[in-house]
Amino acid sequence: MPFPAARVCWSRREPTDHRSRASQSVTRGWGGIDRLPVTVAPARPYNRSDWASAFVNVEQELTDVALSPVRGAVPVELRGTFYRNGPGRLERDGHRVHHPFDGDGMIAAMRFDNGRVQLTNRFVRTEGWLAEEKADKVLYRGVFGSQKPGGRLANAFDLRLKNIANTNVVRLGDQLLALWEAAEPHALDPESLETRGLSRLDGVLKKGEAFSAHPRFDPGHHGRPCMVTFGVKTGPRSTIRLMEFATEGLDAGALLHDRSDSFPGFAFLHDFAITANWAVFLQNAIAFNPLPFVTGEKGAAQCLQSKPGGKGRFWLIPRDSGRFAGQKPRILEAPDGFVFHHLNAFEDGDHVVVESIVYDDFPTIGPDEDFAEVDFDTVPEGILHRCRLDLSRETVKTERISERTCEFAMVNPDRQGLSAQYAWMAVAERETGNDPLQAIQKLDLKSGTTHTWSAAPRGFVSEPLMVRRPGAEAEDDGWVLDLVWNGARQASDLVILDARDLSEVALLELPLPVPHGLHGSWAPTH
Ligand code: CO
Repeated sequence: MPFPAARVCWSRREPTDHRSRASQSVTRGWGGIDRLPVTVAPARPYNRSDWASAFVNVEQELTDVALSPVRGAVPVELRGTFYRNGPGRLERDGHRVHHPFDGDGMIAAMRFDNGRVQLTNRFVRTEGWLAEEKADKVLYRGVFGSQKPGGRLANAFDLRLKNIANTNVVRLGDQLLALWEAAEPHALDPESLETRGLSRLDGVLKKGEAFSAHPRFDPGHHGRPCMVTFGVKTGPRSTIRLMEFATEGLDAGALLHDRSDSFPGFAFLHDFAITANWAVFLQNAIAFNPLPFVTGEKGAAQCLQSKPGGKGRFWLIPRDSGRFAGQKPRILEAPDGFVFHHLNAFEDGDHVVVESIVYDDFPTIGPDEDFAEVDFDTVPEGILHRCRLDLSRETVKTERISERTCEFAMVNPDRQGLSAQYAWMAVAERETGNDPLQAIQKLDLKSGTTHTWSAAPRGFVSEPLMVRRPGAEAEDDGWVLDLVWNGARQASDLVILDARDLSEVALLELPLPVPHGLHGSWAPTH
């Protein structure tokens, strides 16, 4: 079952109108170092209808459309493709998805070459998308609560999963993989984005086998770079299959290591983290009661609930490429809270340090609630935490490393699995409190200092991607790419920032709305 990242939540309360307060907002401007903390609580600088306006169908598929900067210039050294995945179809035949994560995957590819950028976008031709396009009707239920027309009876006992390929997109060998964690990936042509079909990765996967949407790219801790990823089979016991694939050389795409480990309890695992020697998982304290799914009342993901009094656990699996190859996993108790995404992990002697975005609770998803009517005040916010796992004493120490609502955080890809000084992430405009993501923040993990670029009041950011400058030595030498929903223009902007201080390098307007999306990646041109 798929559980893509959630910061979109639900509430039955009347929506708050932020417009009346917007005029009192603290103006931070575009880019620059954060001001000192303000003494009055800043008002919210956004209009909720601007945020919700991004939930639209993508009606066009473009091919190699040139994008011109409306401000600044595109760096010539940026050579490669910025791929993004996310829901592109949110309504069909008058039926809106119950949750955006049920929207069909659409890939946007922005190709950078010699200071020019070209955009191509395509829906992934999944079996479900093709059938629904042909029928022009909703034929499948969605995991996040979207139902077929006809009420409960029409949905009861229809347990088919629609692999919507909408969560992440990564390059592996000569394939572009559109990922959706509950089943095998779809392979696409990296240039044309044409769907080649479901891929079992040359026989590595069984038919329908779960394959995470959150691979981690090891920059070469054991001599060569590789992609580390996993699949989960869950139930009263859960089995994690940990796989490592070559990413460079003649055998790019080949399976290098493969192990399976079984743990007690139901596992809700969307993401993980790696160090040189460990794969680190956090088993959230979540229970799953599938009955309302079977009887047609709820989507499968709506049957998840926080387990009262339940304790989360860290599961550490030794990587077969590392020092502890072949040894048994380690299990340590995790602090309270719920985690979708990790920032990074690293080793420090016999400690493993894990940095994660922690929510106070799992956001429940009601069948009668409208995702576009969310009251952000009533749902938990993501806060960056650091857990230090002492493997000798089997103790865990936890600290908050920021107070600002955040999601989609990353370190320099060369620091994946190593102690990093900097992180880049999407944050709320306010210093504290839950709001939509409107700004990009660079956080110095050692000193706590920050730089911010803000798209407020009418812009809403997505997952930022840090791209290294070729030949760079400094950890923060490079750029940050982001697709921003521009509420004023009702379309998306591509923003290029200087990774050091988040000053704006260029802004390009896409002739396309790209709804609030999920994950993406950078594939350099060689
Ligand atoms: Co995710």
